[in-house]
Amino acid sequence: MDTSQPEILVHHEQGVTTLTFNRVEKKNSITASMYTQMADALERANADAGTRVVVFQGDVAIFSAGNDIGDFLKCPPVTTDAPVFRFLRILATFPKPLLASVCGPAVGIGTTMLFHCDLVYAGDNAAFSMPFVNLGVCPEAGSSLLAPQMLGFHRAAEALLLGEPFMAEAALEVGLVNRVVPPTECNMLTQMQARKLAAKSLASLMETKRLLKKTNADEVIERINEEAASFGRMLGEPAAREALTAFMEKRAPDFSKL
Ligand code: COA
Repeated sequence: MDTSQPEILVHHEQGVTTLTFNRVEKKNSITASMYTQMADALERANADAGTRVVVFQGDVAIFSAGNDIGDFLKCPPVTTDAPVFRFLRILATFPKPLLASVCGPAVGIGTTMLFHCDLVYAGDNAAFSMPFVNLGVCPEAGSSLLAPQMLGFHRAAEALLLGEPFMAEAALEVGLVNRVVPPTECNMLTQMQARKLAAKSLASLMETKRLLKKTNADEVIERINEEAASFGRMLGEPAAREALTAFMEKRAPDFSKL
């Protein structure tokens, strides 16, 4: 890795900490080290009285291709304390407002992390997908609980079982995103909304967020942990090995003998 170009950029301005995926050549896919950087940045943002809001953003053409598939093969997250699951628990319990600006594909955790964001703005090129079954694994990030709650059971089942992408307008219709704008305006709009929040009472924002999320809070963490145990186990099984190897070899997976 070129250390002059961190793969997660952290920028702080006017009470807003912005985390930017900066691995565009690999479609902003996320390595274990990037999860650790994001988890550490969230912990710092939580402790820092000067940070009132956190924003996630990617590139105008790609939000994130999800977990780095090479990493899944080389160092799979087999225990629930792996960097990805640490990041998810910190994200799911983060007490200050979280915003996301999503343009282009948001694959796997690129979509499921949005269930834990409070406001999501999308470019009209955003494409959301949760292709866990296609990779021989199962949902993560609490998405088996949160997707049906947010999308309704049948739409969640379609998104999670078929794993096909759905576009920004469909995400707007089901309430996964707040607004759809031209991609070049998305980061600006998200920053503007973040700054509006940053000018409000932090105590009031945090208490409102706590109350909004109270119904599900314990169950979400339980589900993240249960999914993590299954996900870690399934990554070592033949279906996932075939699917992940096929991606790296740029061919279609063959599940016919599994
Ligand atoms: N992990 C590792 N590398 C990835 C990656 C991932 N999740 N997603 C993309 N890349 C790499 C490709 O291997 C390729 O690398 P190369 O240039 O060395 O060959 C590069 O990023 C460009 O990807 P490519 O597939 O050619 O770009 P695209 O514009 O045609 O498609 C996506 C973009 C995001 C739709 C497609 O890359 C994709 O579906 N990625 C996998 C998503 C996935 O299944 N993620 C796991 C979810 S759990």
